[in-house]
This record gives sequence, C-alpha cells and structure tokens, in this order.
Amino acid sequence: MHPTPTKVGPMALIEFRGVKKAFGPKVVYRDLNLDINEREVLTIIGGSGQGKSVMLKMLIGLLDIDGGNISFDGQEISGMTEAQYAPVRRRVAMLFQAGALFDSLNTKENVAYGLREQLAMSELEISERVRESLTYVGLPGTEETAPADLSAGMKKRVSLARALAIRPEVLLYDEPTTGLDPINVTRIADLIRYLNETLDVTSVVVTHDMDTALAISDRIAMIHEGFVIFSGTPDELRTSDNPQVRDFIEGNAPVDEDTETLLRSAG
Ligand SMILES: Nc1ncnc2c1ncn2[C@@H]1O[C@H](COP(=O)(O)OP(=O)(O)O)[C@@H](O)[C@H]1O
Ligand SMILES: [Mg+2]
Repeated sequence: MHPTPTKVGPMALIEFRGVKKAFGPKVVYRDLNLDINEREVLTIIGGSGQGKSVMLKMLIGLLDIDGGNISFDGQEISGMTEAQYAPVRRRVAMLFQAGALFDSLNTKENVAYGLREQLAMSELEISERVRESLTYVGLPGTEETAPADLSAGMKKRVSLARALAIRPEVLLYDEPTTGLDPINVTRIADLIRYLNETLDVTSVVVTHDMDTALAISDRIAMIHEGFVIFSGTPDELRTSDNPQVRDFIEGNAPVDEDTETLLRSAG
C-alpha cells in the first residue's frame, strides 16, 4: 500500500455531485458533477437555455434540486432550511444578470443594502465599507449619485460593489458583460480578475461571451444538455476537439438574440 498522498493545491470549496434538476417535462440537469476550487476564477459556458443561471440559483438556494447533492465547504447545502442556509448565504454574493439598482436609493444606499440586511454594522462602519467597495470598482466618491445619472457600465460596477460589500468568500456573476459596450466589457472582465486576486475570493462567472471566458478564467466548464461536457484551462478549451465545444467556440451554437448578440452583430 502506498501512503495516502498529502493533499496539495486548491481544495474544492463547492461540489456538485450527481445533481438533477427539471422543470416539469423540461430536464435541465441529468447528472451535474462539478468542483469549484478555492480562489479560482471558474467560468461556466454553454448556449442559451442550457442551465447556467439555474446552476447559480441552485447554489444560492433560490432553486431546489431534484437529486444528488451540492456541498459548500464540506457541508451539504441541498435540503437545508432557510435558517440553516443563512450562514452560508453570508459567504456568497451574486451579481445578477439584470443587476438592477434601486432607483429611489442613491449609490451609497444601494451598496449598503446587503450590509443593512445581513450584517449588524454601525453607520460609521457602513460608510467606510461602502467607500472601500466603491473604490474597488473604480467609482470612489459616487455615494450621493442617483442610479439614473450612471451609465450602464457604471451601474454594473455599482451592482458589483453591492455584491462585494458583504466581503463574500464567493462571488457569482451571471452574464456580467451582457449589454455592455466593448470598453466596458473589458473593464468588467479586468475587474473580475482584479477582485479575485485582491479580495482572495472564489469567482464563478456564467457567460456566453467566449472572449471574456478565455481572458479571465483559471478554468472553464462547458455545460450541454444536462452535463458538464468539458472542463479545463482556457488553452485546453482552445485546443479541445470535442465537437460541441468547437461549435460553441467557433460561434456556431444557437444563442438567443439578446442585447449582446445584437450589439455584436451591429458592431
Ligand atoms: N423558474 C423556472 N421555471 C421553469 N423553467 C425554468 C425556470 N428557470 C429556468 N427554466 C428553464 O430552464 C432552462 C435553463 O435556464 P437557464 O439556466 O436560465 O439558462 P441559461 O443557460 O441561458 O442561463 C431553460 O429552458 C429555462 O426556460
Ligand atoms: Mg442565464
């Protein structure tokens, strides 16, 4: 017998094991197996409707799973009650696809939202945390600005400041670059990488934007018809000979006509 090898390298912080999920007759996940390692940037790619957003929602407990299990830091989270899940929720923040800000609140109050909801902090601590968070996203001093006076790219960054204000260990991004012009796409991509390194977080990015995926990821996983059909480094993705992977990276996969697609074809 060989001695058990010492575990080296990153450990899996989040594990999906045999996860099944359907909505009525619509099967989204047949057998989802995926490890997310501590402090990596993992990007989930796949065509529209393949279940990318569903994966994130299962992870943060917004959707139940039908089978298998999901664990976070060694704890099984599937089937937890809201009260059991609350401490996990404080460790994970999500930048939603729509990422809507509250129009009636200024930037400071938008960013402070999760702090007031989840953490007992003094006004002074809240102000300081908001200031720091806005600085991280390159928008220092915008506390008093109304959402209506921010550009689309700035709104996205304020949403990101709101997500990171609770100092999560895991940041989830759902289509963070969709609907942005190319300069802001690059800016958000750079920011995801910068925050991953500066705040030592684990980052999970869902996108169908290949350029962003290749630019920011330590690892990329592709989902297709209910399974992870590929996972590896950006270089391994580029050179994969899996036909579905090739179709996707060569842009032959069907995607819906969302803003990004329209913008790209227009540009
Ligand atoms: N709450 C829901 N109720 C019913 N069907 C849903 C729900 N959420 C997602 N779906 C379906 O699950 C599939 C995967 O959705 P989604 O994860 O949003 O895809 P995407 O990969 O584009 O993010 C789609 O067919 C979608 O219509
Ligand atoms: Mg989606």
